[in-house]
Amino acid sequence: TKGFNDFCVRNIHQHAFGRREIEIAEQEMPGIMALRKRASDDKPLKNAKIVGCTHINAQTAILIETLAHLGASIRWAACNIYSTQNEVAAALAESGFSIFAWRGETEEDFWWCIDKCVNAENWQPNMILDDGGDATHLMLKKYPAMFKMIKGIVEESVTGVHRLYQLSKSGKLSVPAMNVHDSVIKTKFDNLYSCKESIIDSLKRSTDIMFGGKQVALCGYGEVGKGCSQALKALGCIVYVTEIDPICALQASVDGFRVVKLNEIVRNVDIVITTTGNKSVVTREHMEKMKNGCIVCNMGHSNTEIDVKDLRTPDLTWEKVRSQVDHIVFPDGKRIILLAEGRLVNLSCSSVPSFIASITAATQALALIELYNAQPGRYKCDVYLLSRKMDEYVAILHLPTFDAHLTELSDEQAKYMGLSKAGPFKPNYYRY
Ligand code: NAI
Repeated sequence: TKGFNDFCVRNIHQHAFGRREIEIAEQEMPGIMALRKRASDDKPLKNAKIVGCTHINAQTAILIETLAHLGASIRWAACNIYSTQNEVAAALAESGFSIFAWRGETEEDFWWCIDKCVNAENWQPNMILDDGGDATHLMLKKYPAMFKMIKGIVEESVTGVHRLYQLSKSGKLSVPAMNVHDSVIKTKFDNLYSCKESIIDSLKRSTDIMFGGKQVALCGYGEVGKGCSQALKALGCIVYVTEIDPICALQASVDGFRVVKLNEIVRNVDIVITTTGNKSVVTREHMEKMKNGCIVCNMGHSNTEIDVKDLRTPDLTWEKVRSQVDHIVFPDGKRIILLAEGRLVNLSCSSVPSFIASITAATQALALIELYNAQPGRYKCDVYLLSRKMDEYVAILHLPTFDAHLTELSDEQAKYMGLSKAGPFKPNYYRY
C-alpha cells in the first residue's frame, strides 16, 4: 500500500493488532518510557544510524521506537528465525521503520534480512545493536570497509560477547564494543528475577503440573539456578541442587537445598532443570534411569545441556503431544516429557516479564548513547562493561514504579564513606 516499501514482513495488514501489543508492553516498561521522555529534547542519538539484530517482539518495539525518538534512524532484522512476533513487525513497518523479519525464516532468509539492514542505499550505518553477534560478523566479513566506519557495537548475548572477546584477542576488533550481557543491572535482574518467574510459567503452561510436593533436580546454582530454586521452593517443591563449584554448592546448602550428584536422585525426581550453560549435563544414561513421566527442560543458553541428540535413536519413539512438548517413549513403555527439545524453555514456553525487558532495553539504549557520544579516545577498540554509574541510572529510571524513596547521603556521611552524593555508590568489584 505504500509507494516505497523498505521493509519485509509477513503481513503488513496485521499492524493494528501489533500496535495494540506494543501499547500493552508500554504499560509495563516504565523505565525505557521514562528515558524516552527525559532524552527526547536532547536527541542524544541524532544522526545515529543503527543496525539492529535482536528478537523482534512488542518489547523490542519499545526499544526501537525509543531509539527513533532519541534521533536515530534504524534498520532491524531478527536474531532468531522463530521468535519474531509478525504483528509487531507489521506495526513497526507500518510506522515507517525498515524491518526485515518474520516468524519461520529459512537460514537463507535470515542472512538476507540482516544483509538488507546492513547494506542499504544511501544509508551508512554507524552503530550496531546485536544479540548473538550475527550482524557484527556479517558486516565484518562481507563489508569490512563499512565495519571500519562503525562507532560502536552493543552486544546483548553471552554468545555474541564471547565472539567479541575472541575478535579483540586476535586484534580484529576495530571498534569499541559494550558488553551489556554482563552488566550488573542485567545479570542480577534478567538472569535471576526473570527466570524465577518464567520457569513456573513455562512448566505450568506446557504440562499443567501441580508443584506442591514435587521433587526437582536443579542443575547449576548460579543466578538462573538461584531464581528457579526460590520459585519452586516457594510453591512447595522439594529441590535438589547439583553444582561443580564449591562456593555455589555452599550457597545452595545454606539456602536449605540438598546438594547432590544427579545420579544419586535421578530415579526419584519428577522434574529435571538445567541452568548451567554447560554441555551434556543430562545424558542418555540419566534419562534411562528417570521414572515414568519425568519432565526434562533447559533454562541455559546452550541447547546441548541435555543430550537430546542421543534420544534420536531407533529404539525410542518421539510423540509430539503439544507444541513444544514431546514424549520420548522407551522400549519398556516409560515416557519422559521433554520441553522445547532442550532449547531455552522459557523463551519457547512462556513470556518474559516486560518489566525486565524494560531494564534490558534501557541498558542497551544507554550503552548506545554512551558509545555514540564518547569523546574520541575515551574507548579503545576493546570490549567494555557498562559503568557502575550507568547501571545505577537504569535502576533510577525504574524506581518510581514502586514509589521507592531513596535515602540521600548527608555531606558528613558522604565524606566518611568517600563517596559522591550522586554516586556511584559501590566500587567496581562489589558483587551485589
Ligand atoms: P552462572 O555462571 O551464574 O551459573 C551457572 C552455574 O552452573 C555455575 O555456578 C556453574 O558452577 C554451574 N555448573 C557448570 N557446569 C555444571 C555442571 N556440569 N553441573 C552442575 N553445575 C554446573 O550463570 P547464570 O547467570 O546462572 O546463567 C546460566 C545459563 O542461563 C547461561 O547459559 C545463561 O546464558 C543462561 N540464561 C538464561 C536466561 C533465560 O531466560 N532462560 C536468562 C539469563 C541467562
